[in-house]
Amino acid sequence: MTPFPRCDATAAWAALGGHFEAHGRDFDLRDAFAQDPRRFERFGFAAPELFCDLSKNRLDAATLHFLVDLARECGVEAWRDAMLAGEPINLTEGRAVLHTALRAPPGAAPFSEEVQATREEMLAFAEAVRARAEEGARPLRHVVNIGIGGSDLGPQMAVAALAPFAHPQLELHFVSNVDGHDIASVLRRVAPAETLFIVASKTFTTQETMANAATAKAWFLEGGGGAVAQHFVAATTNVEAAARFGITRTFGFRDWVGGRYSLWSAIGLPIAIAIGAPGFRELLAGAYAMDQHFAQTPVESNLPMLLGLRLREDRNFHGFTSRSVAPYHHGLKRLPAYLQQLEMESNGKRVDREGRALPYATSPVVWGEPGTNGQHAYFQMLHQGTEPIPVEFILVKESDANAGGSAVREALARQHRMLLANGLAQAQALMLGRTTAEALAEQPTPPAGAAIDAATLAAHRTFPGNRPSTTLLLERLTPRSLGALIALYEHRVFTAGILWSIDSFDQWGVELGKGLGSHLLPLLDTAAGADADLSGLDASTAGLLRRLRP
Ligand code: F6P
Repeated sequence: MTPFPRCDATAAWAALGGHFEAHGRDFDLRDAFAQDPRRFERFGFAAPELFCDLSKNRLDAATLHFLVDLARECGVEAWRDAMLAGEPINLTEGRAVLHTALRAPPGAAPFSEEVQATREEMLAFAEAVRARAEEGARPLRHVVNIGIGGSDLGPQMAVAALAPFAHPQLELHFVSNVDGHDIASVLRRVAPAETLFIVASKTFTTQETMANAATAKAWFLEGGGGAVAQHFVAATTNVEAAARFGITRTFGFRDWVGGRYSLWSAIGLPIAIAIGAPGFRELLAGAYAMDQHFAQTPVESNLPMLLGLRLREDRNFHGFTSRSVAPYHHGLKRLPAYLQQLEMESNGKRVDREGRALPYATSPVVWGEPGTNGQHAYFQMLHQGTEPIPVEFILVKESDANAGGSAVREALARQHRMLLANGLAQAQALMLGRTTAEALAEQPTPPAGAAIDAATLAAHRTFPGNRPSTTLLLERLTPRSLGALIALYEHRVFTAGILWSIDSFDQWGVELGKGLGSHLLPLLDTAAGADADLSGLDASTAGLLRRLRP
């Protein structure tokens, strides 16, 4: 591929910098809306299954123009094409990045035959599991997924999001933490004969997953569960290690599927079990529709690219250090956690592709909670804290909340309208704020005995406003729209990574902690640790170890 300049060396970058100094630093959203009655139309973008309102971003037509130039100068389209073609764009691991191949129709992407065959096998198994929940004297009731990181967060997020589409008799559980409280709480609620365990690990070596799988196996054998091979399956690239564990039914995938991009592969088995083969195909179809949009739409209206470009500008010109994700749909409660891995493990890097320390910041911190819960926790800071934090609202027009008879349904429908009104109102309030004059005008009388005058109280009740937000709008949360939403996020991460000139597909930062953890483990062991020489350790770690020993 033709080499492209690093983004901070392009003409578009210089133009963006100049424009930011002239117009961006003091950009005011309220003025922008007042001056342009068509701002919503101008900065609203449609993509498969969703609509995105960028009009409450600190963005004008010139910025958008320079951002599009930036994408072209940095080669975002060429890098995208290289990824989709299976070139080894994960440079430090020498691997292709082909999660998109997992959702492409037959013949439309590399490794097609292999992908289709593996998927059919996985989906047939998922259907067989669903059938076992309905037949026999002792039907299957529980599926426990044991995995961590990408082998947990994606499937867990999707199963929660798609609960209205799930098999009513099968309960899905997710165990990830090496802390035994996690698995113990699940094991207390299930019975060996009624339970299927999925050991989900790309490598089948991850400490947490191996420890939890061993505990599950011990519990299963102790409880007289019978043959391990009947109740344990694996989703892994390491078939030999799974076999050594006693697992004979394995669903594979390749090393070109990154952990945090793997829910479309065999790692998605819990999703397929929950929503069935047709539902899983819909999930893939939604993602494929977004892939097509990403592959074919010009940068000017290519939503994942525009979101990636905005991320770069928000982070490096406006200096926003974090982004809060507020899904106004309770089913998306695990989306922020999923996005933390997707975005921060991908783009939390400090050197460029050539290994040079970067002179600019990369991934912001991503965090959040579902609305309206977040409003009663940290929204105070979003409205009145000392620095602006962009918020990403996700609103879903139709609700699938369902229980009881017509009176309950009406009550639930009203709650859904309340939910949407809250999401809209928060975005509006962040942007509009409230001036001190307005606060004074509606000044409540200070409570009797309070030592505060009206002007001071008004200062506390003033909101600066001009706080940016993005709103993503879905018609309904279905397997298809969820697939599109997740693919949108994946491609945004990709685009931002290219614009930062980093390798978004490795994760060397996780390795250091892993190595040191295994070194300290024996020192906590009573017999070995009591006499072990701690002198080589830093004083803090040694002191804490002494206190933690039995
Ligand atoms: O956290 C590091 C990581 O390698 C992630 O990228 C991955 O999703 C997770 O560990 C789990 O890895 P595995 O699927 O190999 O158990």
